[in-house]
Amino acid sequence: MKKFLLMVALALGCSVLVSAQVSVKEGRFRKGDNPAWSQAGFNDSDWQVLSLEKDWTLQGIQNPYGYAWYRIHLVIPSSLKQGSTDRIVLDLGPIDDADETFLNGTLVGKTGSNPGDAAGFVGEWQTPRRYLVEPKLVRWDKDNVIAVRVYNGGDPGGFYARPICLGKPELADFVQLTMVKKEDRHQAVIHAKAQSRGLVKVVVRDVLEDKVVSEKEWKATVSPRADVAIPVTMQGQQQVTVTYTDDKFGETLTASASAPYILTPPAPATPRYNGPLVFGVRPGSPVIFRLAFSGEKPMKYAVEGLPEGVSLDPDKGVLSGSVAKAGDYPLVLVAKNAKGEARAEFTLKVGARIGLTPPMGWNSWNCWGLSVSQEKVMSSAAALINRGLADYGYAYINIDDAWEAEERAPDGRIVTNEKFPDIKGLGDWLHSNGLKMGIYSSPGDRTCGGYLGTLDHEQQDAETWNEWGVDYLKYDWCGYRKVFNPDPDHSVAAYARPYMKMQQYLRQQPRDIFYSLCQYGMAQVWTWGHAVDANSWRTTGDITDTWESLYDIGFKRQVGLHPYAGPGHWNDPDMLVVGKVGWSNSLRDSRLTPDEQYAHISLWSLLAANMLIGCDIAQIDDFTFNLLCNNEVNAVNQDILGHQAHMDLEEDGVQTWSRDLYDGSIAVGIFNLNEETLPVDLAGALAKVGLEEVAKVRDLWRQKDIPMGLYHIAPHGVLYLKVTVK
Ligand code: GLA
Repeated sequence: MKKFLLMVALALGCSVLVSAQVSVKEGRFRKGDNPAWSQAGFNDSDWQVLSLEKDWTLQGIQNPYGYAWYRIHLVIPSSLKQGSTDRIVLDLGPIDDADETFLNGTLVGKTGSNPGDAAGFVGEWQTPRRYLVEPKLVRWDKDNVIAVRVYNGGDPGGFYARPICLGKPELADFVQLTMVKKEDRHQAVIHAKAQSRGLVKVVVRDVLEDKVVSEKEWKATVSPRADVAIPVTMQGQQQVTVTYTDDKFGETLTASASAPYILTPPAPATPRYNGPLVFGVRPGSPVIFRLAFSGEKPMKYAVEGLPEGVSLDPDKGVLSGSVAKAGDYPLVLVAKNAKGEARAEFTLKVGARIGLTPPMGWNSWNCWGLSVSQEKVMSSAAALINRGLADYGYAYINIDDAWEAEERAPDGRIVTNEKFPDIKGLGDWLHSNGLKMGIYSSPGDRTCGGYLGTLDHEQQDAETWNEWGVDYLKYDWCGYRKVFNPDPDHSVAAYARPYMKMQQYLRQQPRDIFYSLCQYGMAQVWTWGHAVDANSWRTTGDITDTWESLYDIGFKRQVGLHPYAGPGHWNDPDMLVVGKVGWSNSLRDSRLTPDEQYAHISLWSLLAANMLIGCDIAQIDDFTFNLLCNNEVNAVNQDILGHQAHMDLEEDGVQTWSRDLYDGSIAVGIFNLNEETLPVDLAGALAKVGLEEVAKVRDLWRQKDIPMGLYHIAPHGVLYLKVTVK
């Protein structure tokens, strides 16, 4: 099934291609299919001109499915001939979904496959296209035609990311260095499309000690017939970097691997409060709140200053009831066990706003996809409590797509399918444990997974969900495009309309329902999500467990969004991809490296992002627990000021992000987006972002104060700090 994923167009330029010489932003375009359109001489002067930086739906192409062609005219300068190789490279970026590309009538590349092909339709919308071209196909210093036959199996269609570029190839076009993990063993593999000779270097570092343990190098020859495999062994907290420097190009390829090393110190046996410092509830709505204390169990809980109408279960630490009168109620949360006692000051804010800190919890999608069932949800919910994640403030248990029956009941009521025999019972169980239940639907007649949506049943569904005890709604655009696309009105008001309609009915329910918009950032939803009274909105298409996805969604598309987040309304860069994920019945370990996972959680903490765990919690390992349950890292995410971090500096592949915290300190993340280990002079790095008079620096992952000095950040890794200025 082709999932609908919106790809927001961003002008990225030809950065991937170091020596790009030609870049083109527009092409001629026509729906349909005709082999004659590949030919250089074909007259396309009456074809429509389309941007290569925006997809079809964003450019008003009606019925954006099936075949279409682009014809791109460009002059290729003969200066490109003098390269280190005799070929040139065509860098087209990603294309939605499959393409066949011709230069002056000759096929030069194909990615994905079409419905008529032996393999059937296989979309490859995320794969950047780089095709090597023989020089004899080029008309030097004259008009050339790149003709691209595109097949689109679902929205949004075609070129969408950046201009196309043409230039001299780089080493990566001929040689690939990849780190392969089989079972628990790593291997670096060098694969070459053309004979290459160069220097292999293997460096082993101890991450915790921050020093090099060993270094080895040797000369190697790689041929297209024989890959070179380099076994990589790591002990304990070690990280291995393999580089290959080609003699002819002088360029270096890098791959690295590290063991999943744990930085978060174990929680003390004495009680410690790890939850948010405020909780918002509307007057008269049920209070559902679980006190988040780590420490040895059993524990006895108490709350000082409880308003009338709210009571505490002293064994479970669960608040329930409701408060009639608006106001701020200062409470002291207390937990006691055999080892000691802890007290935390806390404010119950009874008023119009909910979601005062970003929601923390779990969602079924990134692990189970459409195979979700009540049993699987229950298993993660129980593990949230038993494995101690609820002691860190994770509270929402959200059911994503695929809970819906084939048809509504005769009275129009939405019903669950056989995988969810008792959704109300599930809600009751969650509430009795101080957890909250989330559900998923679409303003269209169908969801993204093809299940029943809410269209024309908004009020009825809101009422049904209230009866089930739903506390969170993820409302996903998908099927609504059938209503939206044919309508010429594509104003912001038109984008907002289905969301406003639903919110009106949600607000009529006698319970608080966190309202999560999912429309992938269209029409800059962050600028108006607040106005439709949403509590969060997805800012991008779907995340997946690769560095490319994390980089694109986290490090590119969140830049500049900080002014739009705050208590009660958050930017949502999508759910977490750590632990065992898989979007199906078969789960795998996240493909992100341990360092990438540290970077992921650190960035989401800085971004005040929704912290929705995407893995099966029942199968959580110690490394993943360490990522999700670092109370100091989470405290930044839950900081009551709600100031989302902004990117202060981007230089040489290093991004520094920071945010102000309510205690006057500043959270700072220094992210190494490069493939190589980065030495960082801490004082210099902080001074670059204006932090000069520094009194104290705390390493948030290690939870210890650190002196100024030289530190090393792993490839795709992070140094995550809390800085106090004088
Ligand atoms: C879309 C959303 C995902 C998920 C699926 C369910 O792709 O963006 O997060 O909810 O739909 O079908």
